[in-house]
Amino acid sequence: MAACRVTCLSGCDRDPGAPPQAVDLAIAAQLWNTPEKQWSQVELQQLLEGERLYRKGCAGCHLSSGEGQLTLGAPALRNSAVAKGPAGELARTVLLGRGSMPALRSALQDAGLAAILSCVRNAWGNQQGGLISRADVAAAPAAGN
Ligand code: HEC
Repeated sequence: MAACRVTCLSGCDRDPGAPPQAVDLAIAAQLWNTPEKQWSQVELQQLLEGERLYRKGCAGCHLSSGEGQLTLGAPALRNSAVAKGPAGELARTVLLGRGSMPALRSALQDAGLAAILSCVRNAWGNQQGGLISRADVAAAPAAGN
């Protein structure tokens, strides 16, 4: 099962910001492909980037397993209706914050957030089978506010 996991896909000495190598994509395909959805290489790159950014910006509260942390009030993103729901509402939750979750609009670029949300939407069995685009993210705050 694909997951926003803390893994080192092709060697821990590699610059984590470097573009994914062929071997990463082969492993990513094994992790992310399902019988219903075979991701293209471009899509896999976006999922890998999302996984990297999720670990950096979200896992501190929601954990890399997506289970969340009750002590912080951070809900599970695994099987979350918001994570699996409309792209606009999901993007707004992160851009504008909600309750004790901080607004992350200034911390993330649209493309990065699109990658993170694509990962969240398809990890841990959420498996929505589609990606969130940069345009979805760019449209989100205007659509809701
Ligand atoms: C500082 C801790 C913190 C960080 C960092 C954080 N969150 Fe949250 N998140 C929360 C809390 C707390 C809530 C619950 C907000 C509330 O009270 O409704 C939440 C709620 C959510 C929800 C709504 C889930 C649901 O089912 O209601 C989503 C989706 C979400 N966060 C995604 C993210 C993503 C993606 C990132 C990284 C870009 C992120 N969060 C970073 C603390 C955090």
